Amino acid sequence: MCGIIGFVGREQAAPILLDGLERMEYRGYDSAGIAVRSETAGLQVKKTKGRLQVLADLTHGGADLEGSVGIGHTRWATHGEPNDVNAHPHVSGNGRIALVHNGIIENYLEIKEHLQQKGVKFTSDTDSEVVAQLLEFHYNECHSMLEAVGRCLRRIEGSYAFGIICADYPNTLIAARKDSPLILGYGESGNFIASDVTAVIKYTRDVAYMNDGEIAVVTADAIDVFDSELTPQDKAHHQVDWDVSAAEKGGYAHFMFKEIMEQPEAIRKTISPRIRNGRVVLDNVSMPAEYVKGISRIYLIACGSSYHVGVVCKYSWERLLRRPVQVELASEFRYSDPLVDENTLVIVISQSGETLDTMAAMREAKRRGGRTLAVVNVVGSSIAREADDVLYTWAGPEIAVATTKAYSTQLALLDLMGLYLGEALGTVSGADYDEILKEVQALPEKMECILEHVEDVQHAASRYFNHDSIFFIGRNLDYAMGLEGSLKLKEISYIHSEAYASGELKHGTISLIESGTLVVALGTYAALFDKAMSNVVEVKARGAEVLALTTEAYREKMEKVADTTLVVPQTHPVLQPSLGVVPLQLFAYYVALQRGCDIDKPRNLAKSVTVE
Ligand code: F6R
Repeated sequence: MCGIIGFVGREQAAPILLDGLERMEYRGYDSAGIAVRSETAGLQVKKTKGRLQVLADLTHGGADLEGSVGIGHTRWATHGEPNDVNAHPHVSGNGRIALVHNGIIENYLEIKEHLQQKGVKFTSDTDSEVVAQLLEFHYNECHSMLEAVGRCLRRIEGSYAFGIICADYPNTLIAARKDSPLILGYGESGNFIASDVTAVIKYTRDVAYMNDGEIAVVTADAIDVFDSELTPQDKAHHQVDWDVSAAEKGGYAHFMFKEIMEQPEAIRKTISPRIRNGRVVLDNVSMPAEYVKGISRIYLIACGSSYHVGVVCKYSWERLLRRPVQVELASEFRYSDPLVDENTLVIVISQSGETLDTMAAMREAKRRGGRTLAVVNVVGSSIAREADDVLYTWAGPEIAVATTKAYSTQLALLDLMGLYLGEALGTVSGADYDEILKEVQALPEKMECILEHVEDVQHAASRYFNHDSIFFIGRNLDYAMGLEGSLKLKEISYIHSEAYASGELKHGTISLIESGTLVVALGTYAALFDKAMSNVVEVKARGAEVLALTTEAYREKMEKVADTTLVVPQTHPVLQPSLGVVPLQLFAYYVALQRGCDIDKPRNLAKSVTVE
């Protein structure tokens, strides 16, 4: 998704902007640009389609552009194809105002027509250029940038994070946000705006989060923030507690591999502060005991992999909580007239905390009277700030587009949440509680055992990487895990893959199984292992090649039928997907590696999806 950085200070801005953009490359983009202002050269804009390296080469690493105030952008096309003209920054007709924008301006056509009638000429197809032109229009009326931004924001509808510079303002940049993340960074050599902390962490850990409707006036020595009526606001500062190395590859070939390897530690960090004297303690959750007792329905809402975490939890929580647990895709839930009332607990799950559909679903649930709890990785993100309660996964920055450690920490955290709710509701027996809690704590060590033997998965990947179509089959929690295994594989290796509940095969899909079709058979869920085996036999009989995943206890049985068998340690049945998913992540990684794919930045995908 698009990335924004802005800097104003006592150093040359362009190299800093390029560095910040590089750190946000992982978000996905198709073009990039920067605009810098200097006394002698005025407003200079360089932008280009393609990789950031092209922009860096074009500007000799930024050295060609004078000036210590500037804005930069990586674009992920929404309005208008990816090309040099549609790339940001966009400049107003008189060449004096430059703007970068994340989000979507919904009424841009109406404003565009209005401005065209007044003789304004447009060069790009974007909604963002309309705002640059509208700014110039208002600036010509009022001769104050702050006032012009205020007028502009009252006119536009949609979502935005803006970074703006103006040739008439030598040392100032202006920022504004609504429904699209933007942070302020307070640095030694100057101040920053950015859509992502990663962009500024090298320069400062002292940040503030902009709220919807706020406008910031940023100079080298101060950041003044105003609400939409231009009333000054006090901003709370936050210290980012991870350092720059967390967002670097640290010797690994890919962020994805590094993040897979970081999972045991990330889980430790997520669970250990929440377990005291053998009990789950969720300090930040403010739900009264009476409320918990009255919960009649639980929704788990998310997108993509975070949704798959919800699917695992549905299976495990209904068992633990004896309450209906509905897992919903955020993009469907928000338009579905959902059954939510004050006894409904709505849990939204999001790594980024910025996914627009998840945010909208949460707002819809709130509007209907539900209580919301967010499981989020990015501190201070929009979803975290709007939820009634928030539980952070302490996974650290996740850079690879394909999520791994965020998935694992979400799952571990929700395992704790399940115990917490189960205890409050009185639906989990003491023995189950103790056993599950003990096994959650053992997860990191068991995961380490898997990660010490990655070569088994590597061999499987080199055997199967050239398949065109792969089916993941499993029952119950294995099916839930298969959804994630299949998504991981398809998003980074571009192999068509589907996850099926094994029992569904004979209702249609089995017609696709023919000689040589690869089936990844998941048989880690002990209670249904025999049923899973019968499906393996079924697909084998139709000529499928079977790569199986099971636990030590069932290895021998599985090896008799499958072509290749991977094994993970045993844990409590409800936690088994936390271990089983690791070889599936590794399988996707090694297959993509063999196929020469761009693993950390798969085509067409963005890390944080802030558009619908
Ligand atoms: C897949 C992946 C996506 C995200 C989804 C939700 O590897 O990363 O499917 O899980 O876009 O993102 P968040 O969790 O940030 O809301």
